[in-house]
Amino acid sequence: MKKFYVTTPIYYVNDIASIGHAYTTFAADTLARWHRLKGEDVFFLTGLDENSQKTVKAAETAGVKDLKEYTNQMALKWTSTWKNLNISNNGFIRTTEAKHKKLVKEFFMKVYEKGDIYKGKYEGLYCEGCECFYTESDLVEGKCPFHKTEPKFISEENYFFKLTKYADKILTYIEKNPDFILPNSRKNEVVEFIKMGLKDISISRPNVDWGIPLPIDKNHHFWVWFDALPNYITGAPKYWPANCHLLAKDILRFHCVIWPAMLMSAGYDLPKQLFVHGFLTINGQKMSKSLGNAIDPNVLAQKYSVDSLRYYLMRSIPFGEDGDFSEKALITRTNTELADSLGNLLNRVVSMCEKYYDSKIPKAKEDKELSSKLDFKKIDSLILNYKLHEALAEIFYFVDQCNKYVNEKEPWNLAKNQKEDELEKVLFNLAESLRIISQLIYSFMPETAEKINEQLGFKLRDSFDLKWGNAKSKGIKKGETLFKKIGLTDGLKKSSNDGLKGGPRNGL
Ligand code: MSP
Repeated sequence: MKKFYVTTPIYYVNDIASIGHAYTTFAADTLARWHRLKGEDVFFLTGLDENSQKTVKAAETAGVKDLKEYTNQMALKWTSTWKNLNISNNGFIRTTEAKHKKLVKEFFMKVYEKGDIYKGKYEGLYCEGCECFYTESDLVEGKCPFHKTEPKFISEENYFFKLTKYADKILTYIEKNPDFILPNSRKNEVVEFIKMGLKDISISRPNVDWGIPLPIDKNHHFWVWFDALPNYITGAPKYWPANCHLLAKDILRFHCVIWPAMLMSAGYDLPKQLFVHGFLTINGQKMSKSLGNAIDPNVLAQKYSVDSLRYYLMRSIPFGEDGDFSEKALITRTNTELADSLGNLLNRVVSMCEKYYDSKIPKAKEDKELSSKLDFKKIDSLILNYKLHEALAEIFYFVDQCNKYVNEKEPWNLAKNQKEDELEKVLFNLAESLRIISQLIYSFMPETAEKINEQLGFKLRDSFDLKWGNAKSKGIKKGETLFKKIGLTDGLKKSSNDGLKGGPRNGL
């Protein structure tokens, strides 16, 4: 059986989820669900990065003495958010787990035995927000470009990893595997960065007592990225190598340079693909806790429904590019595409089957005039190529074609004029179209897909069943409207700043 292993970055445990985190996680969830429907053996991993010094600070600020207790409390918030947002992850990895600590130590020993670790002195600037070292030229007016804080000057003995040894090997690998890093613009950025010259990296910190100690020197703990990246192996060892790591551009270098070098050194296969998406911004500014503009996805989901949020994020922002979050656009899309187009289509079909066929779906033949408007292969290929927004556009093109079909065929007139055969054909084809649409939108809006099936009396299967006329309905059961229309002023009035939260984001 074909396997598909997809991951999100493991998010820092000291924060709560923002819609930025939810954005990556929705995309991963969409891919995981799509591949499951294709009958593949899917593993979807997300989780938490807990061994950072940020955790120590945040626990202190929160007044929680026991760090383990602090991370447990925070982990509950993350898992409940993912549950609220209908995320179908198979695994949830926390880097404080014993199995992970064990794997990191083993991983390190492989690198060490390869001769890729040496002790040296590090002097330089360290941003605790990013958990990484910076050179003067990386800074903007002397401050971290992401956190707008001055990095600390550090001078200490560290263990180093010979990253430089792998520069050419990574370049060759990227050249031979043109789809390793996507989109192409990100690949080019990585290539350019490597060609500018890499430096060996420090992978340990002395004098800290949170994290994973180095097996060769108890006075040192792993630098958090050396500990975090192997989570992708700990979380699903049998599924390694991952088919797809999803991440945003903030952590590009860690994933596309350091991680491949670590894997090459330790003798593991490389992930098949890394897809790097853009930032969700607010009024053109990156969403960040320090700017106070991060939004809690739970608040939005409660206000507008999980599926409105999922749909809006996946449909509005070309995957790979930056996109500005706009509550107004979320409302508009919900009202027009979800309520008017999709919701009304279901409502019309269900009502007519109730009225003309005693709550049953009539049997008839496939109408190629309608079914030919659906291009499954195209949608599939768009999804496999991470063009999630275009795939949704294509699915909703078909929804529009179905609405057009209703308007052109005027089933109410067919009923009035007793054109039984025509009426049967039209309603059968519309119900079938909706059944198929429900499977296509399931990966994006799982709850809505279920609701459509319930109303049509079908059972949503766990693999694609796209053959016209294949499914049996146990009868129509009219339910609530799929999406209630939201008054633009109402929605926005209520929103003010109630989803906003504070705190810094991290990255290179
Ligand atoms: N802990 C590291 C990742 C280690 S992976 C081995 C980390 N954590 S983080 O909490 O800062 O999450 C960063 C990731 O969250 C981004 O790469 C992206 O996937 C997601 N996002 C968080 N905010 C985002 C936006 N505003 N826009 C888009 N994605 C964002 O870095």
